[in-house]
Amino acid sequence: MKAPTEHLKEIEILTNRYCNLKCKFCDAWTNPIDDKSVLTYNQLKSSIKSIHDWLKKPMRLSLAGGESFMRKDLLEIISYAESLQFTTSVITNGTLITEEIAKKIISSNLSAITFSIDSLNPKIHDYLRGVSGTLKKALQGIQFINKHKIQKPWVSLAVVINNLNYNGLLEIVQFAKNNNISSVLFQPISPIFFGGKTGWYDSKIWPTNKNEVKNISNAIDLLIKAKENGESKIFNSIQQLTGMKNYFKEIDLKKVS
Ligand SMILES: C[S@@+](CC[C@H](N)C(=O)[O-])C[C@H]1O[C@@H](n2cnc3c(N)ncnc32)[C@H](O)[C@@H]1O
Ligand code: SF4
Repeated sequence: MKAPTEHLKEIEILTNRYCNLKCKFCDAWTNPIDDKSVLTYNQLKSSIKSIHDWLKKPMRLSLAGGESFMRKDLLEIISYAESLQFTTSVITNGTLITEEIAKKIISSNLSAITFSIDSLNPKIHDYLRGVSGTLKKALQGIQFINKHKIQKPWVSLAVVINNLNYNGLLEIVQFAKNNNISSVLFQPISPIFFGGKTGWYDSKIWPTNKNEVKNISNAIDLLIKAKENGESKIFNSIQQLTGMKNYFKEIDLKKVS
């Protein structure tokens, strides 16, 4: 492989395309678990080795899905990547991280783990994630990692801003501060995810009038203000957050199915 790599900082690999949840805004869960397009353990290992031999320098390796923890061999893949000096991270819905798995994650040497938490209100989070009990399991997963880790992995959160959760965004930042969580990344809800259906399962999560857009925009303003006042837990830059406000302002209010 011959390509300029000096600016390359991170590589993302999709470990699978299926999931145990049924999020309203994602359609990974509509794919079958025996999806033949998913890389096997040997294929994944040899891809990681090829990337290593190609780059010849330490690099971030982000493992995404689907829900990566549905793979029984995920921890072996992480250990392998870490042994090749990759700084490995996984993003997860957190529901499969029991205390036993948390200990194994720590032993695998994983560098960073991001939990998707859209709201600390179980009614909202579980509704968005399509399965009840999801928030409780994800928060337990965070506690298990924090309980057993010595240094690694860094724990962070990812939040999808939408029409149902904008009131609770700062509460999530406060939760991060109280629970030894390094940062919170905010992502605006996107109309197309995972390259599947382009419509919406439920219009409640997408703003459908100017008033709702204004409410979301005001909530993002609170994040910007917190950031201006030195809130270091918010990962996004002020420019990104401002761009998000513009994104919501310009969205097609009728884009729901
Ligand atoms: C596709 S998920 C895969 C990892 C894992 N299953 C999870 O939910 O964290 C990766 C990230 O994308 C986010 N996401 C999913 N659908 C989205 C959408 N329509 N717009 C914005 N972010 C979305 C998820 O909340 C998660 O933080
Ligand atoms: S966002 Fe994550 S947890 Fe939700 S359906 Fe998609 S892959 Fe699964």
